[in-house]
Amino acid sequence: MTAVDPRQARSPGITYQELLDADTHPVPDVLRLEAPKYLGDEDISITRYITREWHELEKERLWSRVWQFACRTDHIPEPGDYIVYDITNQSYIVVRQPDGSIKAYPNACLHRGRKLKDYDGHCEEIRCPFHGFAWALEGELADVPAKWDFPHVEERQEQDFNLPECAVDTWAGFVFINPDKNCEPLSDFLGGIKEQFEIWNLEDRCVEAHVTKIIGANWKIAQEAFSEAYHVNATHPQILPYLADTNSQVDIWENYSRVITAGLSTSPLIWYEVSQDEMMRGMLDVRVDQDSPISIPEGASARAIASISARDRWRPMVGDRVDTMSDAEMMDSIDYTIFPNMHPWGAFNRIVYRFRPNGDDHRSSIMEVFFLSPYKGEKPKPVKRRDLTIDEPFTNATELGMLAKVFQQDVFNMARVQQGLETTRKPGITLANYQEAKVRWIHKKLGEYITSEVAPKSKGDQ
Ligand code: FES
Ligand SMILES: [Fe+2]
Repeated sequence: MTAVDPRQARSPGITYQELLDADTHPVPDVLRLEAPKYLGDEDISITRYITREWHELEKERLWSRVWQFACRTDHIPEPGDYIVYDITNQSYIVVRQPDGSIKAYPNACLHRGRKLKDYDGHCEEIRCPFHGFAWALEGELADVPAKWDFPHVEERQEQDFNLPECAVDTWAGFVFINPDKNCEPLSDFLGGIKEQFEIWNLEDRCVEAHVTKIIGANWKIAQEAFSEAYHVNATHPQILPYLADTNSQVDIWENYSRVITAGLSTSPLIWYEVSQDEMMRGMLDVRVDQDSPISIPEGASARAIASISARDRWRPMVGDRVDTMSDAEMMDSIDYTIFPNMHPWGAFNRIVYRFRPNGDDHRSSIMEVFFLSPYKGEKPKPVKRRDLTIDEPFTNATELGMLAKVFQQDVFNMARVQQGLETTRKPGITLANYQEAKVRWIHKKLGEYITSEVAPKSKGDQ
């Protein structure tokens, strides 16, 4: 078997870096970074998607000791505000403290084990609904009804009856927890992504949309559908005239990676010449018998003109800073992934995805979409979450706009992938070397967690 030299394996057509050379504005350094990685070309075992054994390993070795995005800091602004964060069969409560810090506890009473909280909310103390044991927000046991009957609890309070804590930290307005208190610091885990996102300031965004949807497939099948642009030609053929799918740039660092796909640039898979006007009409979803609201003068570029409109759209919220931002930041899909399951997008695409197993079921998952939007004036509170069942289409979530249709096309494949993998006689899935490198990277990281006795520590971005 000959490994393909990753420098040779690139789509015909303009590269992303060449496209940046034609930008009408200065391009930020972060988009000039290139980190292609050839991670091998072996098949990935289908057992990772279809077996209970692998799911149990993920519970024991991944979810119990990896940093994971729990909520936005805005979801719990006041002391006593809490959210319930569930992952597989585990549940945690993430609580804003009186001093403004955040703590997370396993969501389990230390008397006889009932979940302490069923829903997100606000409380003055954490009181168990079963027999009424109560803890201060800081985790100290505060009340035991009929205390005379529990002298042994008083004796062992320090070591056994204060709530055990998870590790908690924040980045860019996201609250992360790690159930393993002895984990490496979040900052080390995140590595260079912190600097890469600085110019986009995700901290200063509000949650403008929040939609969850149950998917009839393993969480990795759902996540991987959003980890490459290779599927666009077959799954979303309507966007090919204005999306440079196979010319996407794929970069891999240690615990994060990205795929950047240019907008208002035509797919190399299209066999006919697409005019600048057709590109714009495609993006705006204009019908053949309708006039386009934005026409492209002879010789002008749709990408540059669409960027002018995008700047006008964001200017009221972001101010004149938009005039220093590149066309790329206005137009492109800058899709980062932080291992294991969080996808914050750069610039103003506003999207953050999260993918999790659906409770303890390895054959279904929860896909979540957040829109983090710039805002004007006082920061709006996060919107109420909309939960879509397995049977409800994404298009019911009108707050997602035109993207809902695209997501629905993605969802259409997922349960069929699960069924196909359970049927196939082929023991592994096969991946493209470059375009699907992010999928391979996820599996490489996952393999490191599953095979390590102790949680892997970051070695730093190379
Ligand atoms: S189980 Fe919580 S007080 Fe009894
Ligand atoms: Fe897609």
